[in-house]
This record gives sequence, structure tokens and C-alpha cells, in this order.
Amino acid sequence: MRPHDTCNCAKRGSSVALVTLALLACSLRFAGAATVKTKTKYLYAWAGAQDPALARDSLFVFSVQPGPDFGKLLNIVETPYNGLEPHHCRTSVTGRWLACSCMLAVFFKLPSIIFFSLADPAKPVMLTNVTLPIHSAVADEFVATPDGGFLATMMTNASGWAPGRVARYDGNLNLVGEYPQDLSELAPAPGFNPHGIGADFKHQTMLTVDYLEPASSLVGNTLTYRNTARLWSLKNMSIIGTYVLPKTEKSKGAMDAVAIGETGAYYLTGGNGYLYYLDGQKGKKAMPEIVYNSGTRDSVSCILQPFRGGTRLLLAMFGLDRVLLMDTTNPRKPMLLDIYQFPLGTGGHVVRVSNNEKLAAVATYFLEEGAIGQIHHPGDCTIRFLRLNAQGTRFIRDEWPYTRSPVINFTELFPGKGGFRTHGVAFL
Ligand SMILES: *[C@@H]1O[C@H](CO)[C@@H](O)[C@H](O)[C@H]1NC(C)=O
Ligand SMILES: *[C@@H]1O[C@H](CO)[C@@H](O)[C@H](O)[C@H]1NC(C)=O
Ligand SMILES: *[C@@H]1O[C@H](CO)[C@@H](O)[C@H](O)[C@H]1NC(C)=O
Ligand SMILES: *[C@@H]1O[C@H](CO)[C@@H](O)[C@H](O)[C@H]1NC(C)=O
Repeated sequence: MRPHDTCNCAKRGSSVALVTLALLACSLRFAGAATVKTKTKYLYAWAGAQDPALARDSLFVFSVQPGPDFGKLLNIVETPYNGLEPHHCRTSVTGRWLACSCMLAVFFKLPSIIFFSLADPAKPVMLTNVTLPIHSAVADEFVATPDGGFLATMMTNASGWAPGRVARYDGNLNLVGEYPQDLSELAPAPGFNPHGIGADFKHQTMLTVDYLEPASSLVGNTLTYRNTARLWSLKNMSIIGTYVLPKTEKSKGAMDAVAIGETGAYYLTGGNGYLYYLDGQKGKKAMPEIVYNSGTRDSVSCILQPFRGGTRLLLAMFGLDRVLLMDTTNPRKPMLLDIYQFPLGTGGHVVRVSNNEKLAAVATYFLEEGAIGQIHHPGDCTIRFLRLNAQGTRFIRDEWPYTRSPVINFTELFPGKGGFRTHGVAFL
């Protein structure tokens, strides 16, 4: 399929019936590839080199198989680049691909997304044959789609300003399209800088949240946060509803969004310590509501990881150096189960759980823009493993069964290469 022809088949149909059939066929293409739910063996860490004279931005592969090799570094795959600002990463449901986003790449004319082949999962190979989005840049977060591909939030247009897009790749990493195709759908809130993204394939909806205008974070510009959420139809990749988060005066941007299992509802967060709930089944009439208040108005960031079919939620709050564990069996009334408190100054950002849902990995680095920018939240540049009990009701703190430390310190791990800032983590 040619890039940018989402529903090429539909366009060729002349009669209404043909078009309808073709649209249906297009919409069904999300279904397909077999999901891998094997035992988790690997952790990928997507990290920026602190000293470009010593190293390139790189992907690290660690063993997380229970046993003596837990935490062992298996491989470093160097990209040819510096300055990407490695951001989030996610494996496809087939386990074939790893998609990695690059937050500042566009400002140095570097690629905003880098894909790796995981044909040999211990030895990822960077792909150079994938078509990158044409109308958009500054990739942030991915959703792995059932067809083995990805949806990616692209925060900006091709030169780093609003409006961004959502890019879609199929299971062979063909670029299917960039959305919305009709930009008039953005009229209710033109500052389209999508960051977090969640999708519910059962209800065929998706939620994106607008976080900030990336170029505005560079020195000399006025930092511009966004506070909108947008509900989409996955059937036609167009926007159903646009919502402004309440309490926006204290919000530091709407950062993350996740589907709550297959309930049709979503959680979203910003940098203000609130957890919001939005019932996507209400369509246009949905209202984001605050369902949990962490007590701080300055969590800096908050990344979400739902698990156990949407009945549990991890929230990593950078500004509080902590990870919260919640029971979300009743999504509108989340209940705090446990708090994992890191030492002051640790940070804590991207959090992911392993397939058996007993292990979590937290990358503590958020964003340090250095001399070029206004955001300075480096955290302590570690990955920290947290263990969860069998019921997913608390963290296990008192025993660590492996020889290597549960803390991987990217400042001192590779003496010859300098430190690394690791933002994205993904299990396979
Ligand atoms: C790109 O290269 C990889 C690895 O050689 C291959 O598996 C994949 O099919 C290629 N993708 C495209 C879109 O050509
Ligand atoms: C991106 O948006 C900015 C601000 O609206 C505009 O000046 C610039 O031309 C746009 N870039 C592209 C490639 O469309
Ligand atoms: C897209 O599909 C949704 C239903 O999923 C529908 O409400 C909406 O009108 C459609 N939008 C367009 C532009 O076709
Ligand atoms: C990581 O290593 C650096 C350099 O050796 C050290 O200063 C820092 O305290 C270490 N961090 C942790 C969490 O151990």
C-alpha cells in the first residue's frame, strides 16, 4: 500500500455501496496478526548520549529472564546520530518491531522515529527503509495496533510547530497515513500537539492529549502548554470530540492518555497531579472529570501504565519521585493500593510492566534540554525495577532475588562512553 492513501480502495469506488464496503474493509484491517504473549526476556532502553564526543544515541538490550542473567547488558545498538533526544519506545504485538521516538530530532534535521527489527530480539537492527511521516515530526508515544503496526503521536508539523498529526503504520511498517486528514477537524482547538495516546480496539476509539508546543520549549520562546484531549474514531481516523481539561489554570499540559482495558473509557494526566477519567462511549458529550488528586499541583509529569485488563494502574510522578499503584476495577473510583517512594531527586517517568505483570521498569529521566531549552528535569538517569505481588495489590520491597542491582545506573555503566539519558523502556 502506498503511504498516505489510507483508504485508497475507497477512493476508487464509484458507487456509494462500493465506497461503504471499501471503508468497512479498511476499518477491519486493524485486526490480524498474532499477539506474542511469551515470557518476558528482554528490556529495551532507548537513551541519548550525554557526550556526543564519546557516544551516539543508542538502544540498550538487557536480559530480564529470571535467574543469574537478570539485568545483564546484552547489547548496545548505536544509531548514527546525536541530538535525537530519545523518547518513548514500544514493541509491536507481533514482537517483530520496536518503534522509538525522537523528541528534538526535527530541530537538527534528524529522523523523528527510528524503527528496529527484532528478528533476533537480543540483537535489534536499525531499519533504514521505513518511510517517515511527511506532514509531521516530533514523535512522542506509540500504541501497538492489532495488525502488528503502530499508531504514533507526532507532536508537530514538519518544521516543529502545531498542528501535529497521528501517524499510522501497518504490520509491515508501511506508512498508512497521517491524521486528521481534514485539518478543519482541529478547529475547536487548533493547538494540536498530541503527546499521550490510548486506543480501545473493541470500541474502535482512540484518545490523544495535547501536551505542549515543542518548539516553544527552546530558549527565546514562550513555553506553551496545551490542555486538550481529543477522542477519535479508529474506523475513519477522524476526531469525534475535543475537550478542555478542568483546572487548566494549574495544569502543566495534558501529558498521557491510556485506555482502561476495553471499557471504552480512558485515563489522562498532566503535570498537575490529577488523574482524569473520560468515558469515550459518550462521544462528543463526554466530560473529563478528576477522579484522583495526588495532593501536589506540580507532579511535573505523570506517565500511566494500565495492566491486569485495566483493573490496575501505575502512575509515575516525576516531581514526587514516586510510583503509585491503583486498583481501577471501578474506573471512576480508583483506589490507591501502594506507593513506591524513590529517594529525593530520583524522578521517575516512563513505567512499563512485563508480560506476567509481576515486574515493572521505570526510567527516571524526563527531559534535560541543556543550553538550547527551558526544560531541565534530568532525574537520576537510572532504570529501576519494581516487583509486584501475585495479586497486583502491592510492591514487593523486602526481597530482591537477583545478583545484579535493581537499579541500572546509566551515568556510570559505560565509563568509556560517558553517561546516557534513558527515557524509553519496553519489555519483550
Ligand atoms: C525493511 O527491511 C526489513 C529488514 O530487512 C524488512 O523485514 C522489511 O520488510 C523492510 N520493510 C519495508 C517496508 O520495505
Ligand atoms: C509549521 O507551522 C508553522 C507555524 O504555523 C509554520 O510557520 C510552518 O510553515 C509550518 N511548517 C510546515 C512545513 O508546514
Ligand atoms: C467517523 O466515524 C464515526 C463513528 O465511528 C462517526 O461518528 C463520524 O461521523 C465519522 N466521521 C467522518 C468524518 O466520517
Ligand atoms: C550513578 O553513578 C554516578 C556516578 O558514579 C553516581 O554519582 C550516582 O550517585 C549513581 N546513582 C545511583 C542512583 O546510584
